[in-house]
Amino acid sequence: MSIPQKTREYRLPKVDGFHNLTLTEAPLPKLKSTEVLLKVHAVSLQYRDLIVAKGTYPLGQKENPVPGSDMAGEIIAIGEDVKGWKVGERVSPNFAVDHVFGDPTAEIKATGLGAPIDGVLTEYKIVPAHSLVRIPEHLSYEEASTLPCAALTAYNALLGGNPVLKGGDFVLVQGTGGVSIFGLQIAVASGATVIATSSSDKKLETAKKLGAKYVINYKKTPNWEEEVLKITNGRGVDHVLEVGGPGTILKSVEAVRYAGNVAVIGFVAGQADTSQLPLLVLGKAINMRGVLIGSRQQFEEMNRLIEAVKLKPVVDKVLDFEHARDAYEYQDSQQHVGKVVIKVSKD
Ligand SMILES: NC(=O)c1ccc[n+]([C@@H]2O[C@H](COP(=O)([O-])OP(=O)(O)OC[C@H]3O[C@@H](n4cnc5c(N)ncnc54)[C@H](OP(=O)(O)O)[C@@H]3O)[C@@H](O)[C@H]2O)c1
Repeated sequence: MSIPQKTREYRLPKVDGFHNLTLTEAPLPKLKSTEVLLKVHAVSLQYRDLIVAKGTYPLGQKENPVPGSDMAGEIIAIGEDVKGWKVGERVSPNFAVDHVFGDPTAEIKATGLGAPIDGVLTEYKIVPAHSLVRIPEHLSYEEASTLPCAALTAYNALLGGNPVLKGGDFVLVQGTGGVSIFGLQIAVASGATVIATSSSDKKLETAKKLGAKYVINYKKTPNWEEEVLKITNGRGVDHVLEVGGPGTILKSVEAVRYAGNVAVIGFVAGQADTSQLPLLVLGKAINMRGVLIGSRQQFEEMNRLIEAVKLKPVVDKVLDFEHARDAYEYQDSQQHVGKVVIKVSKD
């Protein structure tokens, strides 16, 4: 194909809601020798995209960003110094393009697509070649677009810290959003027993079909941590994927076993008094770790697991590029289970 000179891209000139999402056309910059040009086939949405558009993302965002962190596409041009990649390969860039391996740093965090730097809600995207991973062969572009943030965060939460997930462990996932559903699937694929919570019995049925052995409706059972302790005969779970934040974290430390792993991931459950937290954590010798997505190396390791067990991401809905705002509205309505995807290219 001929190399495009322009791209249609969304920008957020103002950040007080999704109505600001503006489709514009922009020239593509000249490809540097270490970069590749990608044709974007699909983009998946996160909770983060909602709060970037509302201007409430707490970790910093640039002015007038191109939103979106997660994409799957194909390489259509390669810089002259890039080795190991060829035109036509199906790829995704890592969420933080400079997080290649090891721990995150302030400099790495500043390379997160779709907030501190321009993102992927665009027809064509230039990224550094060192950010790329190959898409698992059994996945479509729509399915693969869900992996960079939600899946890698869940994978890192369960396998990147201490203790590491092993067969026979109990894993608690909160709600049925993107990170939690991937946590459920990765835990089940690894031989763990999953307890899933949700505000909806219908969504809990889906969680059961995906392999959750126990489910709890957190609206009907507000003291869900007591139920978790009953299920585990008082021992508590080995891992919690803590996506609720201040609103759920005290219950999470009640629900985890002594010296278990609480992966601190999100803040969807709002504010609450957490002044008891330090005592509860030390009193049970809990391992509590903040998770910042993951490295390209972890992404490659995760894709090997996904290929080995033929894991299929749960794609709730796919909307066209021209209907990106509707996709944001749908994600915000919390009707989804798993992921909401925007199909960018028509082919
Ligand atoms: N640290 C990181 O690296 C990282 C990476 C990705 C995401 N995150 C964070 O993780 C959180 C989830 O992100 P996401 O993209 O997976 O979100 P999402 O797909 O929008 O899912 C949100 C879900 O959270 C559940 N929820 C809401 N209030 C809850 C509560 N009080 N208790 C339990 N569950 C509740 C709901 O599930 P039900 O409808 O089933 O009730 C809702 O559908 C966000 O805060 C996001 O910023 C962090």
